Amino acid sequence: MAISAEIPLTGIDAASPGESTLSAGQKLALKYFVAAMVLFAAQTVFGLLAGLQFIYPDFLFGVLDFNVNRMVHLNAMIVWMLYGFMGSIYWLVEDEAGTELVGPKLANINFWVLTAAVTVVVLVYLIVQVGDGTRASIWLINEGREYIEAPRWADIGIVVCTSVFFCNIAATFMKGRWSGISGTLVLDLIALAGLYLAGMFYTTNLSVDQYWWWWVVHLWVEATWEVLVGCIMAWGLMKTLGARRRIVTTWLYIEVALMFGSGILGLGHHYFWIGTPEYWLGLGGFFSALEPIPLVAMVVHAVYDAGTHGFKSNNHPALAWLIAHAFGNFLGAGVWGFMQTLPQINLYTHGTQWAASHGHLAFFGAYATINIAFIYIALQHWRGNVWMSGGLPDGGWKWKWSLGLQCVGVMGMTVAMLIAGYEQAFVERAAGGSTWGAFFDAQTRPWFVQAMQWRMVFGVVTAAGMAILFWDLLTIGRDETRPAKQVPDPEAEPAAAG
Ligand code: HEM
Ligand code: HEM
Ligand SMILES: [Fe+2]
Repeated sequence: MAISAEIPLTGIDAASPGESTLSAGQKLALKYFVAAMVLFAAQTVFGLLAGLQFIYPDFLFGVLDFNVNRMVHLNAMIVWMLYGFMGSIYWLVEDEAGTELVGPKLANINFWVLTAAVTVVVLVYLIVQVGDGTRASIWLINEGREYIEAPRWADIGIVVCTSVFFCNIAATFMKGRWSGISGTLVLDLIALAGLYLAGMFYTTNLSVDQYWWWWVVHLWVEATWEVLVGCIMAWGLMKTLGARRRIVTTWLYIEVALMFGSGILGLGHHYFWIGTPEYWLGLGGFFSALEPIPLVAMVVHAVYDAGTHGFKSNNHPALAWLIAHAFGNFLGAGVWGFMQTLPQINLYTHGTQWAASHGHLAFFGAYATINIAFIYIALQHWRGNVWMSGGLPDGGWKWKWSLGLQCVGVMGMTVAMLIAGYEQAFVERAAGGSTWGAFFDAQTRPWFVQAMQWRMVFGVVTAAGMAILFWDLLTIGRDETRPAKQVPDPEAEPAAAG
């Protein structure tokens, strides 16, 4: 069945305010977004617990150990971001393809299977993590690889679910129309499911194990996910600003070419000290040093588009979070990554709080932001395609404060950890010669201890911002009667489709 004319698919169509007309893909997207936000809250709670354990090592010892809190903090993060991406893609697919979602029933089952599996994995993380590591525990309890600790059965489940997702999306574009954005997106989704396989080998050699593990970790976050956010950013700019398709697609191609050019061999910055051949020092140092370039392009892209439209958008919170994404990605991934990517520097900073500092700013800046932007785009439409530009009834204080508190909070945590990392690089590495004793010595010095306290302070600021975000998401636009501001037609130029 073709979509009927009265079912508007995106935020820029004129649905009358108060009316909620969602397509199958959009309904599914909302489910993904709800699950994403629940997991985001879980991420924060377990982050706060892990942070407290840095200051009070006995806190919850034997009840909820640091390794468990850290693992849940990180896994909740990866999974909520995946949910956010899948939600965003389900949100845009029908609009971009100009047709209804193929296989909505399968897609729905997929959501529930994935969600049930995630719930079981988290419960197992929380309840059963003490005991011998055996082949059975790899299959059922924990695979032991940071970020992808999920047991093997869940690994297989994740690959199956992302493959079903891929089929839904690719089939919808095949039934409808293709564009530069959708073509890039579908190719990227192959990598999203496929790369996960590299994290499922069992090997007794730690170097070999790490070699493949980084394929998932680095090639996911620095190539696959970056391309994915490039695609959804391009679509988001068209919808919130009316940016021209021809322009966003051109930028997307440039960014993707640069990202693959630097990101793939940039993998070498994780091969410096794990027992791989020495040529990785040069290769990894050189290519990863180029990785910030596409991120600069993304900032220029977003600011250029927003500038040409005089920053007039139909959805201010979404645009603000998209801009936060462009800068956060550049700072967190580009600048903070670059700081420690040359082997001469990484020799001193490797595995210290520098890494955690970069990890926080990069994941928040690059991925939390854009997911939140998309949730605002979806909510605007769900609440009846209502007004979300300037002049909101409460002055828009909730979205502004939540954005401000979260950005200040994460930046504060990042700087605190960087200071701790500097101290570790000096005391543990340069002066102490990287001995076991120096490792502990560094963590008792005032700069480190105080930095961990400041990390907690800013962690609480971040959590406060998040609480206001949830409040805003539940209320924004609910009593609004004005229709959304009209933005220019992104397809205005006839030769547009990329
Ligand atoms: C959005 C993109 C990125 C994200 C989410 C990200 C995230 C992370 C995380 C979480 C780690 C810690 C991994 C661990 O546990 O060992 C890490 C390590 C690292 N990242 Fe990134 N990163 C991104 C992009 C970049 C870029 C563009 C560069 C270089 C310009 C970079 C350079 C590094 C380096 C050198 C390390 C190793 C740190 C060490 O030796 O301890 N990252 N990254
Ligand atoms: C809300 C307050 C938060 C607190 C108190 C917190 C605390 C922590 C702690 C204690 C760790 C373990 C660090 C270590 O092993 O040295 C950690 C790791 C991590 N957190 Fe958070 N976190 C918070 C929020 C976030 C947010 C919002 C993000 C990203 C969206 C994030 C991303 C990460 C990442 C990527 C790592 C792994 C870093 C690495 O491997 O080096 N955290 N966090
Ligand atoms: Fe990397």
